[in-house]
Amino acid sequence: MTMRTDAPLKTSGAARYGLDVTPPGTVYGYVVTSTIAHGEITAMDVAAVRAAPGVLAVYTPFDPLPLRTPMSPLLGETWVPLQDTEVTYYGQPVGFVVAETFEQARDAALLVEVTYDRRPARTSLHAGLADALDAPPSLHGEPPTLQVLADGVESIEDALAASAVRVDATYETATQNHAAMEPHSAVAVWEDGRLTLYSGTQGSDLQAAQLAQALDVEPARVRALNPFVGGAFGGKGHAGVSAFLGAAAARDLGRPVKAALTREQVFTATATRPATVQRLRIGADADGRLTALAHDSWSSTTATPSFVEPTSHGTSREWYTTPNLAITQKMVPLHVPPTTFMRAPGEAPGSFALESAMDELAVALGMDPVELRLRNSSIAPPGRDLQWSSKHLDECFTLGAQRFGWAQRHRRRVDRDWLVGYGTATAMFPALRFPCAVRITLRPDDTAEVATSGADPGTGLRTVLSLFGAEALAIPPERVEAALGDSTLPPGGMSGGSTATASVGSAIAVGAPAVIDALVAVATGPGGLFEGREVAYADGRVFAEGDSATFGEVLRAAGRDEVTAIGTSAPGEEMTKHSFSSFGAQFCEVRVHRWTREVRMSRMLGVFDAGRIVHEQAARSQIMGGMIWGVSAALHEGLEIEESGRPANGDFASYLIPVNADIPTVDVEFVRYPDTLHNPVGARGLGEISVVGVAAAIANAVYDATGIRVRRIPIVLEDLL
Ligand code: MOS
Repeated sequence: MTMRTDAPLKTSGAARYGLDVTPPGTVYGYVVTSTIAHGEITAMDVAAVRAAPGVLAVYTPFDPLPLRTPMSPLLGETWVPLQDTEVTYYGQPVGFVVAETFEQARDAALLVEVTYDRRPARTSLHAGLADALDAPPSLHGEPPTLQVLADGVESIEDALAASAVRVDATYETATQNHAAMEPHSAVAVWEDGRLTLYSGTQGSDLQAAQLAQALDVEPARVRALNPFVGGAFGGKGHAGVSAFLGAAAARDLGRPVKAALTREQVFTATATRPATVQRLRIGADADGRLTALAHDSWSSTTATPSFVEPTSHGTSREWYTTPNLAITQKMVPLHVPPTTFMRAPGEAPGSFALESAMDELAVALGMDPVELRLRNSSIAPPGRDLQWSSKHLDECFTLGAQRFGWAQRHRRRVDRDWLVGYGTATAMFPALRFPCAVRITLRPDDTAEVATSGADPGTGLRTVLSLFGAEALAIPPERVEAALGDSTLPPGGMSGGSTATASVGSAIAVGAPAVIDALVAVATGPGGLFEGREVAYADGRVFAEGDSATFGEVLRAAGRDEVTAIGTSAPGEEMTKHSFSSFGAQFCEVRVHRWTREVRMSRMLGVFDAGRIVHEQAARSQIMGGMIWGVSAALHEGLEIEESGRPANGDFASYLIPVNADIPTVDVEFVRYPDTLHNPVGARGLGEISVVGVAAAIANAVYDATGIRVRRIPIVLEDLL
C-alpha cells in the first residue's frame, strides 16, 4: 500500500500550516471577546490600548473594519464581526487589537474597557422547548415537518396507538465544541490590491469567495492557500473571524497581519454543534416490524437563528422502513455561541436517540437488537421510491456480529468488579458529491500533476488525488503529484459532507481521458514523434505500430512543457435513478465498575459499507477517529453553558475528551462493494459515518451491563448510581 504522501511531512514537522507563514513586516492581531451573553455595547474605552507599547490599531464596532456579510450557495450566510454593537453570546468577538508582536497585542487587548447595557440572557434549551420555532428547511431543502402515512391511517398517533409494542422516550445530547488541533487562524498579505490569505479551511475556493465578498473586492484578487489543515470537521467551512479581521486590518494598515484565536477563544468565537432534545416514538408489531416512527427534535441555535442540527431529517433520509413516519424539526434560539456543522451533522446526535430507542424496542420485544435492525432494513429511504444503489448493511451486521462474538453477550456478565455489557447500533450517512473540477497535467519528466483547489483536512485527500490520477493514467502513484489547497486551482468544492473522494474521483475520470487525447494529438500532430500515425495510450506510454515512447518523451520530442486538461463533474442523472447512502454496524463492549460506576470501553468494532475503499490506511484512520469521537460524545464531551451564558468548561482544562487510556483497540472492517452507480470510481463517503451510532451502541451496552437506561449524553457517574 502506498504511504500517505503527506505522512513524512506531518510526522517530521515539515508540513507548513497557514499560521507557520510569517511574511516580512508581519504584525499581530488579537481578538477581544464579550464578557456578557446578551446586551448592547454602549461604549468602548480604548485610550489605554492605543497608548500601549507596539499597538498599531484598535478596531471596535465604533471604529470598525468595513465587512459585508458573504453569502454562498453551499454554506449560506457567514457572520462577520464588529459590524454592530449588539452582543448575543458570551465570548463574541467585539474588538481587534493589532500590534508589532503577539504579546503586545494580547497585553493591550486586556486594557479594552467595554460598557454594556446588559439584557437578560436565555441559555437553557429546556426552558425554550415550549415556545420553540419551526426550523427553516434543511440544506437538502427538507421542510421542518414531514409525514408519510399508510392508506387509511389518519395520524401518526393513530398508527402508534394501533401498534402492538411501543417505545416513547426522550433523549438529550450536549453542545460540542470545534476545538481542532490547529486553532482557527489566518495570515493576510496585500500586494497591489491583491490579498493572499493563508488559513486552514475546508475549501480554499470557498474561503476566497467569502473573503472577496466580505472585503468587496473582485474574486480574482483574492488567493486563499491552505496546503495543510490541522483538523476541520465542519468547523472550518465558513471563513472565520481571524480571516475576516486579519484581512481587513492588513488592508487598512498596509502590513501583513497574523491572527489566531487562543484555545479558549475557539470555544466561543467559532461555532459549535447544537445541543438537542429528541423524542422518539416507535411502534412495532409483535414480530418487530416497525409500524410507526415519530421523531421530534429540538436544536439549540443562536439568537439570530443559524444552523439547526437536522436530527429528525436524518431519520427521514436514510433509516428504517416503516409505513408511517412523522418528523418535526424545531429550533430554540438562545444566547449561546453560533452553531454549525460538525461531523455527521444530524445523524451523529440523531442516531443516539433513534438507535437507543431501537434498543429499547428490542428489549420490549425480547428480541436480539441485531435481528431487530436486520428485520427493518430499508431498500429505499422511508417514504420514497428510489432504491439504494448498493446496500450491504446486513452483511455489516452478520460479519460484525461474528467477528465481535455477539452471540456470547449473555455469557460473561461480570469480570471481577466490572459489569460487562454489549451494545450495537446502525450507522448511516448519505452518500453525496459536490461539483468539482480537477486539472491533470502531463510533464516532460514523465510525472503528472493532479490539481484542485479543495483542502485536505487530514483525511488523506492529497493521497487519494495521487492514487486516482495514477489509476486513470496507468502510471505509478509516485509519479503523480497532487496540488491542493490553493483557490487559484480549478474549483474542487470542499472537504465536507464526506464528499471529497467521490467528487475528485468523478472529475479525474473525466479529465484523464481528455489529457490523454491531448497527448495523442501532440504525438500524432505536426512535428510529433508519431506524426500522422495510428497510436494508442497505455501505461504511461504512447504506442504506434512497432514503436512506443513514454509521454515525457512525446512531450520532449515536440518541445512541449506540458499537456493539460480539466475534468469537471457534478451530481447528475444518477440522482433520478437511485438513492445513495453509506452504511455500517457498530459494536462495543463496556465495563461499568460495580462500586465506582466508572464506565470503561473494552472493545469496539465498526463494519462499514462505503463502496470502494480507495486507501486502506486513510480510510481506517478516518473511521477510527470518528469512532473515538463517538466515545467522546457518549462518555466525555459536552459544553456546559452557565445561566449567565458563560461556558463553564470552555477550555481543554475542563472540557473532557478521551485520551489514549480511554480507548481500547478499535477494530475497523469494510465490506467492499464499489458503487459505480454513484460515481465512476465507486467510492462513497466514509468520514462522517464513523461517528454515527457509536454513542447509542455505548449507551445500549451500559444498559446491557447495568439495566440502567441513560437517555442523555455524555453519560456521567451520577447517571449510574
Ligand atoms: Mo463536515 S460536518 O461536512 O465537515
